[in-house]
Amino acid sequence: MSFVVRRARPSDAAALPAIERSAAELFRTDPSLAWLADTDVASVAQHCQAIDNAHVWVAENTSAQLAGFIRARDFDNLLHIEELSVSLGFQGQGVGRRLVLIAIEHARREQMRAVTLTTFRDVPWNAPFYQRMGFVVIAPGEHEAHLLDALQKEVEHGFAAERRCAMRLILP
Ligand SMILES: CC(C)(COP(=O)(O)OP(=O)(O)OC[C@H]1O[C@@H](n2cnc3c(N)ncnc32)[C@H](O)[C@@H]1OP(=O)(O)O)[C@@H](O)C(=O)NCCC(=O)NCCS
Repeated sequence: MSFVVRRARPSDAAALPAIERSAAELFRTDPSLAWLADTDVASVAQHCQAIDNAHVWVAENTSAQLAGFIRARDFDNLLHIEELSVSLGFQGQGVGRRLVLIAIEHARREQMRAVTLTTFRDVPWNAPFYQRMGFVVIAPGEHEAHLLDALQKEVEHGFAAERRCAMRLILP
């Protein structure tokens, strides 16, 4: 199936909560993380705000169906990936990789110094995937403030701190 990746428009917002919910179904394959499939997702209003104020890209197939999205924000000349979701039915077709690549391309074009994210260390479609794209796990003591903040919020949300990590792709 072929997809185009483009900037999200306000009219896309209504489709994004269902994509995030569907994407999270993948966590049911790990009993210790299955609860993530039942947690709240961002609302349509929050997606509208992000489309206006942050960076959101979507992947759309030739039938104008949205398959996934990526949301990122600027922090002090860094681009931080806040969310990446691909609907279960569209996973495993390269959509996730293309969404990460468009965020990296944007950061490069804007001459940002790095792209960052937080993720699970030990989930096959999380840190190992980003590692193959060139991201590196950030050592303790080397986290920027927005990463410490994100990791702290994740613990408050119920994530096991030892399973989470922050990663950085330094841009040349
Ligand atoms: C992570 C996610 C966005 C990847 O989307 P996708 O469209 O399936 O990704 P791709 O098809 O581009 O595959 C990306 C890589 O992940 C690997 N991968 C994808 N699904 C996988 C799975 N179920 N198990 C193991 N590896 C998997 C692929 O082999 C691929 O590796 P490669 O590019 O090095 O060859 C998708 O799995 C998802 O929405 N997951 C739930 C939400 C989530 O974990 N988001 C990321 C939070 S940090």
